[in-house]
Amino acid sequence: MNRRYRKPMIAGNWKMNLTPSETRSFAEAFKPLLSKPRLCEVALCVPFIDIPAALKACKGGRIAIGAQNMHELSSGAYTGEVSAQMLRDLGVKYVIIGHSERRQYYNETDATVNKKVLAALEAGLRPIVCVGESLEQRQFGVTLEWITCQVKAALYGVPQDKLRRVVIAYEPLWAIGTGQTATAEQAGQVCNAIRTLIRRLYDAKTARSATILYGGSMNEKNAAELLAQPDIDGGLIGGASLKPEALSKIVQAANQE
Ligand code: 13P
Repeated sequence: MNRRYRKPMIAGNWKMNLTPSETRSFAEAFKPLLSKPRLCEVALCVPFIDIPAALKACKGGRIAIGAQNMHELSSGAYTGEVSAQMLRDLGVKYVIIGHSERRQYYNETDATVNKKVLAALEAGLRPIVCVGESLEQRQFGVTLEWITCQVKAALYGVPQDKLRRVVIAYEPLWAIGTGQTATAEQAGQVCNAIRTLIRRLYDAKTARSATILYGGSMNEKNAAELLAQPDIDGGLIGGASLKPEALSKIVQAANQE
Protein backbone atom coordinates (compact mmCIF):
# COMPACT_ATOMS: atom_id res chain seq x y z
CA MET A 1 0.00 0.00 0.00
CA ASN A 2 1.37 3.37 -0.92
CA ARG A 3 -0.40 5.93 1.25
CA ARG A 4 1.17 8.86 -0.47
CA TYR A 5 -0.93 8.48 -3.57
CA ARG A 6 -3.81 6.23 -2.55
CA LYS A 7 -6.37 5.74 0.21
CA PRO A 8 -6.62 2.16 1.48
CA MET A 9 -9.94 0.42 1.00
CA ILE A 10 -11.54 -2.58 2.63
CA ALA A 11 -14.72 -3.85 0.99
CA GLY A 12 -16.84 -6.74 2.19
CA ASN A 13 -18.58 -8.95 -0.34
CA TRP A 14 -21.36 -10.68 1.53
CA LYS A 15 -22.35 -12.77 -1.52
CA MET A 16 -25.75 -14.44 -0.89
CA ASN A 17 -25.62 -14.15 2.90
CA LEU A 18 -27.47 -12.30 5.66
CA THR A 19 -31.10 -11.17 5.68
CA PRO A 20 -32.21 -7.54 6.15
CA SER A 21 -32.66 -8.08 9.91
CA GLU A 22 -29.25 -9.74 10.13
CA THR A 23 -27.86 -6.73 8.24
CA ARG A 24 -29.14 -4.42 10.98
CA SER A 25 -27.57 -6.60 13.70
CA PHE A 26 -24.29 -6.73 11.76
CA ALA A 27 -24.14 -2.93 11.48
CA GLU A 28 -24.91 -2.47 15.18
CA ALA A 29 -22.05 -4.80 16.09
CA PHE A 30 -19.64 -3.49 13.44
CA LYS A 31 -19.93 0.28 13.81
CA PRO A 32 -18.57 0.56 17.36
CA LEU A 33 -15.58 -1.60 16.41
CA LEU A 34 -14.29 0.91 13.85
CA SER A 35 -11.65 3.20 15.31
CA LYS A 36 -11.59 6.94 14.79
CA PRO A 37 -9.99 8.65 12.99
CA ARG A 38 -10.12 6.25 10.11
CA LEU A 39 -7.96 6.65 7.01
CA CYS A 40 -9.36 3.65 5.24
CA GLU A 41 -12.44 3.58 2.98
CA VAL A 42 -14.84 0.89 4.21
CA ALA A 43 -17.59 -0.53 2.01
CA LEU A 44 -20.12 -3.33 2.43
CA CYS A 45 -21.34 -4.92 -0.80
CA VAL A 46 -24.57 -6.57 0.23
CA PRO A 47 -27.40 -8.46 -1.53
CA PHE A 48 -29.89 -6.13 -3.29
CA ILE A 49 -32.59 -6.89 -0.74
CA ASP A 50 -30.32 -5.78 2.15
CA ILE A 51 -29.36 -2.43 0.62
CA PRO A 52 -32.07 -0.24 2.25
CA ALA A 53 -31.39 -1.78 5.68
CA ALA A 54 -27.62 -1.40 5.22
CA LEU A 55 -27.91 2.23 4.11
CA LYS A 56 -30.12 3.08 7.07
CA ALA A 57 -28.04 1.22 9.63
CA CYS A 58 -24.72 2.61 8.36
CA LYS A 59 -25.88 6.20 7.94
CA GLY A 60 -23.39 8.67 9.40
CA GLY A 61 -20.92 5.88 10.12
CA ARG A 62 -18.72 6.54 7.08
CA ILE A 63 -19.42 3.06 5.76
CA ALA A 64 -20.23 3.04 2.05
CA ILE A 65 -22.73 0.59 0.65
CA GLY A 66 -22.24 -1.36 -2.55
CA ALA A 67 -24.16 -3.86 -4.66
CA GLN A 68 -22.77 -7.11 -6.06
CA ASN A 69 -24.10 -6.87 -9.60
CA MET A 70 -26.25 -4.72 -11.92
CA HIS A 71 -27.71 -4.81 -15.42
CA GLU A 72 -25.87 -2.99 -18.17
CA LEU A 73 -28.96 -1.13 -19.41
CA SER A 74 -30.75 1.64 -17.55
CA SER A 75 -34.32 0.26 -17.84
CA GLY A 76 -36.50 -2.02 -19.91
CA ALA A 77 -38.13 -5.44 -20.15
CA TYR A 78 -35.52 -7.42 -18.19
CA THR A 79 -37.48 -9.26 -15.54
CA GLY A 80 -35.67 -9.64 -12.28
CA GLU A 81 -32.85 -7.22 -13.09
CA VAL A 82 -31.64 -4.06 -11.33
CA SER A 83 -30.05 -1.08 -13.09
CA ALA A 84 -27.21 1.23 -12.07
CA GLN A 85 -29.66 4.15 -11.95
CA MET A 86 -31.85 2.31 -9.45
CA LEU A 87 -28.84 1.61 -7.23
CA ARG A 88 -27.59 5.19 -7.45
CA ASP A 89 -31.03 6.54 -6.62
CA LEU A 90 -31.03 4.52 -3.40
CA GLY A 91 -27.67 5.96 -2.34
CA VAL A 92 -25.40 3.07 -3.31
CA LYS A 93 -21.78 4.08 -4.00
CA TYR A 94 -20.04 0.92 -5.27
CA VAL A 95 -20.98 -2.05 -7.42
CA ILE A 96 -18.97 -5.24 -7.84
CA ILE A 97 -18.71 -6.16 -11.52
CA GLY A 98 -17.48 -9.38 -13.09
CA HIS A 99 -16.98 -11.37 -9.91
CA SER A 100 -15.68 -14.82 -10.85
CA GLU A 101 -18.84 -16.41 -9.44
CA ARG A 102 -20.92 -14.36 -11.87
CA ARG A 103 -18.58 -15.16 -14.74
CA GLN A 104 -18.73 -18.87 -13.81
CA TYR A 105 -22.41 -19.40 -12.90
CA TYR A 106 -24.15 -16.66 -14.91
CA ASN A 107 -22.05 -16.66 -18.07
CA GLU A 108 -20.76 -13.12 -17.69
CA THR A 109 -18.20 -12.44 -20.36
CA ASP A 110 -15.53 -9.77 -20.72
CA ALA A 111 -17.93 -7.99 -23.09
CA THR A 112 -20.76 -7.84 -20.53
CA VAL A 113 -18.32 -6.81 -17.84
CA ASN A 114 -17.17 -3.93 -20.03
CA LYS A 115 -20.76 -2.80 -20.73
CA LYS A 116 -21.53 -2.89 -17.01
CA VAL A 117 -18.41 -0.92 -16.11
CA LEU A 118 -19.36 1.82 -18.60
CA ALA A 119 -22.98 1.85 -17.40
CA ALA A 120 -21.96 2.01 -13.74
CA LEU A 121 -19.66 4.98 -14.39
CA GLU A 122 -22.34 6.70 -16.45
CA ALA A 123 -24.78 6.40 -13.55
CA GLY A 124 -22.25 7.73 -11.04
CA LEU A 125 -21.45 4.43 -9.34
CA ARG A 126 -17.90 3.29 -8.61
CA PRO A 127 -17.34 -0.18 -10.15
CA ILE A 128 -15.18 -2.73 -8.34
CA VAL A 129 -14.04 -4.81 -11.30
CA CYS A 130 -12.94 -8.35 -10.47
CA VAL A 131 -10.30 -10.23 -12.42
CA GLY A 132 -8.47 -13.46 -11.64
CA GLU A 133 -6.93 -16.59 -13.06
CA SER A 134 -7.84 -20.24 -12.50
CA LEU A 135 -5.46 -22.75 -10.96
CA GLU A 136 -4.79 -24.28 -14.40
CA GLN A 137 -3.91 -20.89 -15.85
CA ARG A 138 -1.49 -20.25 -12.99
CA GLN A 139 0.09 -23.67 -13.50
CA PHE A 140 0.45 -23.06 -17.25
CA GLY A 141 2.22 -19.78 -16.48
CA VAL A 142 -0.32 -17.56 -18.27
CA THR A 143 -1.56 -15.60 -15.23
CA LEU A 144 -0.25 -12.19 -16.29
CA GLU A 145 -1.42 -12.57 -19.89
CA TRP A 146 -4.89 -13.59 -18.71
CA ILE A 147 -5.18 -10.73 -16.22
CA THR A 148 -3.97 -8.29 -18.87
CA CYS A 149 -6.75 -9.45 -21.22
CA GLN A 150 -9.41 -9.19 -18.53
CA VAL A 151 -8.35 -5.71 -17.39
CA LYS A 152 -7.98 -4.39 -20.94
CA ALA A 153 -11.41 -5.70 -21.92
CA ALA A 154 -13.08 -4.38 -18.76
CA LEU A 155 -11.62 -0.89 -19.24
CA TYR A 156 -12.23 -0.63 -22.99
CA GLY A 157 -13.67 2.82 -23.68
CA VAL A 158 -13.24 4.09 -20.12
CA PRO A 159 -11.89 7.63 -20.44
CA GLN A 160 -8.97 8.77 -18.29
CA ASP A 161 -11.05 11.13 -16.13
CA LYS A 162 -13.37 8.26 -15.19
CA LEU A 163 -10.63 5.74 -14.46
CA ARG A 164 -9.99 7.18 -11.01
CA ARG A 165 -13.50 6.06 -10.07
CA VAL A 166 -12.74 2.45 -10.99
CA VAL A 167 -11.47 -0.02 -8.39
CA ILE A 168 -9.82 -3.21 -9.64
CA ALA A 169 -9.88 -6.33 -7.49
CA TYR A 170 -7.45 -9.13 -8.21
CA GLU A 171 -9.10 -12.34 -7.03
CA PRO A 172 -7.37 -15.57 -8.06
CA LEU A 173 -10.13 -18.16 -8.47
CA TRP A 174 -8.19 -20.81 -6.59
CA ALA A 175 -8.00 -18.57 -3.51
CA ILE A 176 -11.71 -17.70 -3.29
CA GLY A 177 -13.47 -19.43 -0.42
CA THR A 178 -10.76 -22.09 -0.26
CA GLY A 179 -8.73 -20.84 2.69
CA GLN A 180 -5.74 -20.91 0.34
CA THR A 181 -4.57 -17.31 0.11
CA ALA A 182 -2.16 -16.21 -2.59
CA THR A 183 1.20 -15.45 -1.02
CA ALA A 184 1.85 -11.77 -0.51
CA GLU A 185 4.47 -11.96 -3.30
CA GLN A 186 2.07 -13.65 -5.76
CA ALA A 187 -0.70 -11.14 -5.03
CA GLY A 188 1.72 -8.21 -5.06
CA GLN A 189 3.19 -9.26 -8.40
CA VAL A 190 -0.20 -9.39 -10.15
CA CYS A 191 -1.36 -6.11 -8.61
CA ASN A 192 1.90 -4.53 -9.77
CA ALA A 193 1.31 -5.89 -13.29
CA ILE A 194 -2.20 -4.37 -13.27
CA ARG A 195 -0.78 -0.97 -12.27
CA THR A 196 1.89 -1.22 -14.98
CA LEU A 197 -0.83 -2.00 -17.53
CA ILE A 198 -2.86 1.04 -16.40
CA ARG A 199 0.28 3.14 -16.84
CA ARG A 200 0.58 1.83 -20.38
CA LEU A 201 -3.10 2.32 -21.19
CA TYR A 202 -3.41 5.74 -19.51
CA ASP A 203 -0.43 7.46 -17.86
CA ALA A 204 1.82 7.38 -14.79
CA LYS A 205 -0.33 9.72 -12.70
CA THR A 206 -3.49 7.70 -13.37
CA ALA A 207 -1.68 4.46 -12.53
CA ARG A 208 -0.27 5.90 -9.32
CA SER A 209 -3.69 6.86 -8.05
CA ALA A 210 -5.56 3.70 -9.15
CA THR A 211 -7.02 1.58 -6.34
CA ILE A 212 -6.14 -2.11 -6.67
CA LEU A 213 -7.45 -4.63 -4.15
CA TYR A 214 -6.62 -8.25 -3.44
CA GLY A 215 -9.37 -10.77 -2.67
CA GLY A 216 -9.32 -14.50 -1.89
CA SER A 217 -9.35 -15.95 1.62
CA MET A 218 -8.12 -12.66 3.08
CA ASN A 219 -8.73 -12.55 6.80
CA GLU A 220 -7.69 -10.84 10.02
CA LYS A 221 -4.58 -13.02 10.25
CA ASN A 222 -3.08 -12.55 6.78
CA ALA A 223 -4.34 -9.02 5.98
CA ALA A 224 -1.32 -7.10 7.31
CA GLU A 225 1.16 -9.11 5.25
CA LEU A 226 -0.86 -8.75 2.04
CA LEU A 227 -1.43 -5.04 2.64
CA ALA A 228 2.30 -4.49 3.12
CA GLN A 229 2.78 -5.08 -0.62
CA PRO A 230 3.25 -1.69 -2.30
CA ASP A 231 0.66 -2.28 -5.04
CA ILE A 232 -2.08 -3.81 -2.87
CA ASP A 233 -4.29 -0.94 -1.72
CA GLY A 234 -6.80 -2.99 0.23
CA GLY A 235 -8.97 -6.06 0.17
CA LEU A 236 -12.22 -7.46 -1.15
CA ILE A 237 -13.28 -9.80 1.62
CA GLY A 238 -15.79 -12.64 1.33
CA GLY A 239 -16.19 -15.02 4.28
CA ALA A 240 -14.42 -12.86 6.85
CA SER A 241 -16.66 -9.87 6.03
CA LEU A 242 -19.63 -11.69 7.57
CA LYS A 243 -18.04 -11.43 11.03
CA PRO A 244 -17.96 -7.89 12.45
CA GLU A 245 -14.91 -8.64 14.64
CA ALA A 246 -12.86 -10.13 11.82
CA LEU A 247 -13.78 -7.37 9.36
CA SER A 248 -12.95 -4.63 11.86
CA LYS A 249 -9.53 -6.19 12.45
CA ILE A 250 -8.84 -6.16 8.72
CA VAL A 251 -9.85 -2.47 8.64
CA GLN A 252 -7.46 -1.86 11.54
CA ALA A 253 -4.65 -3.53 9.60
CA ALA A 254 -5.36 -1.23 6.63
CA ASN A 255 -5.47 1.79 8.92
CA GLN A 256 -2.14 1.04 10.51
CA GLU A 257 0.02 0.09 7.62
P1 13P B 1 -13.35 -15.23 0.35
O1 13P B 1 -12.76 -14.09 1.15
O2 13P B 1 -14.48 -15.92 1.08
O3 13P B 1 -12.31 -16.15 -0.15
O4 13P B 1 -14.05 -14.57 -0.94
C1 13P B 1 -13.34 -13.66 -1.68
C2 13P B 1 -14.26 -13.03 -2.65
O5 13P B 1 -14.74 -13.68 -3.56
C3 13P B 1 -14.58 -11.61 -2.47
O6 13P B 1 -15.23 -11.10 -3.58
